[in-house]
Amino acid sequence: MSATSSAIQSTLVENRVFEPSAATVAAARIPGMEAYQALCAEAEQDFEGFWAKRAREHLSWHKPFTQTLDSSNAPFFKWFQDGELNASYNCLDRHIGTPVENKTAIIFEADGGEVTHVSYKELLAKVSQFANVLKSKGVQKGDRVVIYMPMTVEGVIAMQACARIGATHSVVFGGFSAKALEERINDAGAVAVVTANYQMRGGKELPLKAIVDEAITQGDCKTVRNVIVFQRTPTAVNMVEGRDSFMHEEMAAQSDVCPAEIVGAEHPLFVLYTSGSTGKPKGVQHSTGGYLLWAKMTMDWTFDLKDSDIFWCTADIGWITGHSYVAYGPLAAGATQIIFEGVPTYPNASRFWQMIEKHKCTIFYTAPTAIRSLIKACDSDEKLHPKSFDLSSLRILGSVGEPINPEAWMWYYKNIGGERCPIVDTFWQTETGGHMITPLPGATPLVPGSCTLPLPGITTAIVDEMGNDVPNGSGGILVVKKPWPSMIRTIWGDPERFKKSYFPEELKGYYLAGDGAVRSEDRGYFRITGRIDDVLNVSGHRMGTMEIESALVAKTDLVAEAAVVGRPDDLTGEAIVAFVVLKGQVPTGEDAKKLANELRNWVAKEIGPIAKPKEIRFGENLPKTRSGKIMRRLLRSLAKGEAVTQDTSTLENPHILDQLAQSN
Ligand code: WTA
Repeated sequence: MSATSSAIQSTLVENRVFEPSAATVAAARIPGMEAYQALCAEAEQDFEGFWAKRAREHLSWHKPFTQTLDSSNAPFFKWFQDGELNASYNCLDRHIGTPVENKTAIIFEADGGEVTHVSYKELLAKVSQFANVLKSKGVQKGDRVVIYMPMTVEGVIAMQACARIGATHSVVFGGFSAKALEERINDAGAVAVVTANYQMRGGKELPLKAIVDEAITQGDCKTVRNVIVFQRTPTAVNMVEGRDSFMHEEMAAQSDVCPAEIVGAEHPLFVLYTSGSTGKPKGVQHSTGGYLLWAKMTMDWTFDLKDSDIFWCTADIGWITGHSYVAYGPLAAGATQIIFEGVPTYPNASRFWQMIEKHKCTIFYTAPTAIRSLIKACDSDEKLHPKSFDLSSLRILGSVGEPINPEAWMWYYKNIGGERCPIVDTFWQTETGGHMITPLPGATPLVPGSCTLPLPGITTAIVDEMGNDVPNGSGGILVVKKPWPSMIRTIWGDPERFKKSYFPEELKGYYLAGDGAVRSEDRGYFRITGRIDDVLNVSGHRMGTMEIESALVAKTDLVAEAAVVGRPDDLTGEAIVAFVVLKGQVPTGEDAKKLANELRNWVAKEIGPIAKPKEIRFGENLPKTRSGKIMRRLLRSLAKGEAVTQDTSTLENPHILDQLAQSN
């Protein structure tokens, strides 16, 4: 790749363009912009034919589908609905009898550095064994199973085993609290929970099983019949007689053959909870056929996957990225992938570079927050700096989860990619199932900070509040005009909320992503400008402001009222700032610090440490209109430390602004 202008600068208009090298184009699956445009044209001319052809090509169907898209009950779209298949069969059995069967599926590196290799054949045997364990516990097709596991091979085995028997999994990130876990177990009505005794992160042993116990007891989770425990460390945990058992003991007693349960294409493969603009997380329901198709196709297209690649997506299986690009996509594509248990800064901040060198990683996919924190840790220390490692195996880099600022992009491009590797800045969401807008490594000229163009078949657009297209250069609301196979099917147990959240009437039936965006005037490239709803993006993690507010006011002995807003943060993208009205007096000095800490820990207990506000400010009230509405735009200015320039004439209590402008 060559830089037409390589000066490091950060302006609103980004002029640097990086074209793919001729060699990259020549070797690519989608070689050059013409090939990309041809695919887009194909999808436009025969939309259903385009998807049907790929679904037949990329997936093994036990019963072929005859109808591609059923829009009769829109927005509850159905894809390939009379077709039948199994996701685990497509990820594992499909490779048996091909050269892939003895290929390494997973290179696992534990927190402490131990490395294990698992081949496709071995993985199939383990998944089958665990599927038999689930069956022996009476778990049936359509039942929900909650998975609360560390980043381990066993986590993927648990997910694949559910898919194998047609059980719908719901993975809960291991950093969520007992309270958050309990809500998800109850909302999903899970019959079983798969967990580990502990997880290892940064050399520390952190409890998981104890949190499951707390969730089930506190939350009175009546649906849970069994808890299956992966023994990650030798430390003993409490085991409830008749309910709890160890994964390895159960597996040893089972056959390693388990025929895959064939399900309809629309069968719910998983429900994954994510934050929305109300206090209650949404259970995003995904299908089997459409979801898997796109996870597989985007491995091929976005990452230009080749047989020899060593793919590494650093996301946890608790997030959608870990579903599509760890648990399903790489396996469906027959790739070798790295799974890493630990954290990027342990034993030191060169861990990622060491691992890329050691495992000869070729495709590296991570989040801007990780890059930014590593820039900070490595730039001042020669020994930790990526230039001290051999990263020549890399050929493609990826970014996901939040906007990547041009400075971080340039650092990633130069220091990790050696100015040779295209960066695919992939825009997508839990709800979209897979990538939506992203460069293609062998086609798209790159512009730092822009996710560039939609994938073929994906009809993203920018519209105004009435659903009318806005011209390039004008910002607006990001929508998707036509359905796509891996789209969210519904919100678990709440179809009305699904319709209201994603297909508001005024938007002409388009899917509302919840992000603002703008297209560049020259190339029509998309740049995401951030959420337009009450959702924050902190270190690439979605957090609902209402969720955090609910947690704060749940501390009823202390808190009368709370409002949460986001503030731009150099490291985490956005930071959480909470404005709190206490039941007692407004605290100052040490008292304020103590109370702020108490509330931060409270939020960690209610939701999880990722939801802890970075700053808490106290006031005797919140800025409100005369009708009692909290004026959040004022709070956003205050959080940023800006002078309030907005119109405050409707404000009931202007003096409150001075009080809330002070940080503790
Ligand atoms: C944001 C993560 C800019 C966006 C896959 C979206 C991004 C939300 C990008 C979804 C990107 C994700 N550039 N913003 N490349 N990727 N986002 O559901 O605000 O955890 O709506 O899915 O992250 O977060 P989620």
